[in-house]
Amino acid sequence: MALSFRKLHPVFAAEATGAGELRNLHDPETLEGIRSGMDEFAVLVFRDQPFSDEEQMAFARRFDGELHAKTGARVVKRTRLATEAVSDISNVDEAGQILPPDDRRRLYGLGNRLWHTDASFENPPGRYSMLSARVVPEGGGPDTQFADMRAAYDALPDDTKALIEGLEAHHSIAHSRQTLGFEFSADEQAILEGAVHPLVRVLPGSGRRSLYVASHASRIIGWSLPEGRLLLRELIEHATQPRFVFSHAWRDGDLVIWDNRATMHRARPFADATVRREMRRVTTLDVPRQAAAAGA
Ligand code: OGA
Ligand code: MN
Repeated sequence: MALSFRKLHPVFAAEATGAGELRNLHDPETLEGIRSGMDEFAVLVFRDQPFSDEEQMAFARRFDGELHAKTGARVVKRTRLATEAVSDISNVDEAGQILPPDDRRRLYGLGNRLWHTDASFENPPGRYSMLSARVVPEGGGPDTQFADMRAAYDALPDDTKALIEGLEAHHSIAHSRQTLGFEFSADEQAILEGAVHPLVRVLPGSGRRSLYVASHASRIIGWSLPEGRLLLRELIEHATQPRFVFSHAWRDGDLVIWDNRATMHRARPFADATVRREMRRVTTLDVPRQAAAAGA
């Protein structure tokens, strides 16, 4: 069966069918079809995709040469898994017990409920994130929401487009966690220095412009802190209007791939003190594609 896409929202996101089991997918044409689908839709949903952690990493490597391994989570010592290239997006500890409400790892993970884009605090930043639903709460559990930052950019008034062209923002995971009151030690903060990226990115696959903002964005380079933060808030508020937002309702076995250059996302609350939710994420790095191919 050929790869095909069914749109899930007026401006982006699609369900992909016909690719078979992704863990066994090596056919270059279908992989290229998924890349093109990502360029067009920015979020792709694949149903019924069993993955082990190793299979998920191997699948991600078929797209880009490098995986994001220096997760912010390493500083809170969340090491249930053998490799840092697989992020444990779960509410359980090493022993499989649901984390108590005051557990530091849980409080850290709550930062995912702010609108963000993965690994924007690194250089190179994240390109594709692939989130695999291993155990979803009965009845579907919470949605993950996505915002289309290309459509959001397109809808900006011309004077705002002119204002932000060429600006750069500093991104830091310490900043986004601190806005929620989560504290890092001086040692932890030293590891989390952050990275600077353009506020407007031109996406190589589609030629479209995208607003590159996130809860991690701490300031605009060359601007005062208050003015920079007000601009960032304004842009995030604009970009997360319902007309740009798609909510994905999870099922066991879903794999959702999103382009971190073209979208923001956030987790939604659920009864996480009592109900188990286990997901695994692998994120590729936004390295030039030729370099990726050479390193593969
Ligand atoms: C992530 C993330 C949201 C969720 O995995 O990067 O933000 O709903 N997840 O778990
Ligand atoms: Mn995320």
